[in-house]
Amino acid sequence: VKNGAVLVGGGKILWAGPMEETPPHPDDIDHIDAAGHLVTPGLLDPHTHLAWAGSREKEFYLRAAGAGYMEIHNAGGGINSTSHAVRDASQNELTSLMEMRLEKMAFQGTTAVEIKSGYGLSLEEELKQLRAAKAISSPAGIKTARTFLGAHSFPAEFKENRAGYVDLLCDEMLPAVAKEGLATACDVFIEEGVFDIAQARRVLEKAALLGLKLRVHADEVHDMGASALAAELGALSAEHLIETPDASIDLLAKAGTIAVLLPGTCFCLKKKYARGREFVERGVPVALATDVNPGSCTCDNLAFILTLACLHYGFSAAEALTAVTVNAAAAMEMSEHCGRLEPGMDADLVIWDAEKLEQLPYWFGSNRALLVVRSTGDEVEILDNQAGDN
Ligand code: NIG
Ligand code: FE
Repeated sequence: VKNGAVLVGGGKILWAGPMEETPPHPDDIDHIDAAGHLVTPGLLDPHTHLAWAGSREKEFYLRAAGAGYMEIHNAGGGINSTSHAVRDASQNELTSLMEMRLEKMAFQGTTAVEIKSGYGLSLEEELKQLRAAKAISSPAGIKTARTFLGAHSFPAEFKENRAGYVDLLCDEMLPAVAKEGLATACDVFIEEGVFDIAQARRVLEKAALLGLKLRVHADEVHDMGASALAAELGALSAEHLIETPDASIDLLAKAGTIAVLLPGTCFCLKKKYARGREFVERGVPVALATDVNPGSCTCDNLAFILTLACLHYGFSAAEALTAVTVNAAAAMEMSEHCGRLEPGMDADLVIWDAEKLEQLPYWFGSNRALLVVRSTGDEVEILDNQAGDN
């Protein structure tokens, strides 16, 4: 919409459309002048590992020097090294770390974030991560969705007894997560040397029985049939999808499983990119996310992910925006209240330092969100990057 206007009240969008069609409204309402600027819905980030502690910059330089991500993982680094740091952190410390990270993301235009556990890797520690995420206070109105990813790696204690960890996941961890309402979805990292298809199937089938939606870290390094399994089980999403074969793309399309593509991870791991265009052409709904975590993708800026999707998938600016709004909302089961500038939606929107949509992915490397409006329930809060309060 050129020369658009948005009317907001009670934390919701009341109306959006061409300025000259603005419906009658009281004169004394607050105005924000966005003349000459692109306005979009708040960006939605449907795949993150935000509940981490510690830092792994050493691995960044090891990879820069040629080491592989799975090589580092198999040598005891990677996910398991973050797991030690998470186990050493208190629940309150994790909550504050996440609140800080979310606030930084909010100032970059992100208004909803999915958070996966997966660094606890024991009953108590996984619950701690999810409780920490649940405790995120939202006067800072950012929305979150929680996913249980206990099947992210095998902890050292179960190195010689992998079946025992899968039992623990199915018999104790998943029921506890479901009972306490700590997550709405369950994810499994299916990969050579991590969870195989049979183990993943057990975890995912149990999760489905408990009423959780299914998500899968699929085809990130090797094609193990993970995306085919996701489609077969009617998963909400399959994520990464770098090595996905054509046949599985068609299965995802048929199942209506959302492909959550994570080009920031390919950038950070210096790997080849998923065939993003192919997913779109074959009718798979595509969402984009940062995957922000201390190992494989140290990027919390979703706008940069749009740049990568345009450059490496050949997405148009509109396709890229759809992937972090409408489709990302679907991937987080938030479609009813966010992802569109439409009456009834939460009043989450971003005014950008861009004149039009095409200029958003075109620039990268700096934060181009000028002002973020976000719903805090029945009011809105304004984050102003120019006011110097960030
Ligand atoms: O999506 N691949 C598995 N999990 C994450 C990385 C987590 C980590 O390295 O800490 C990912 O890339
Ligand atoms: Fe991930």
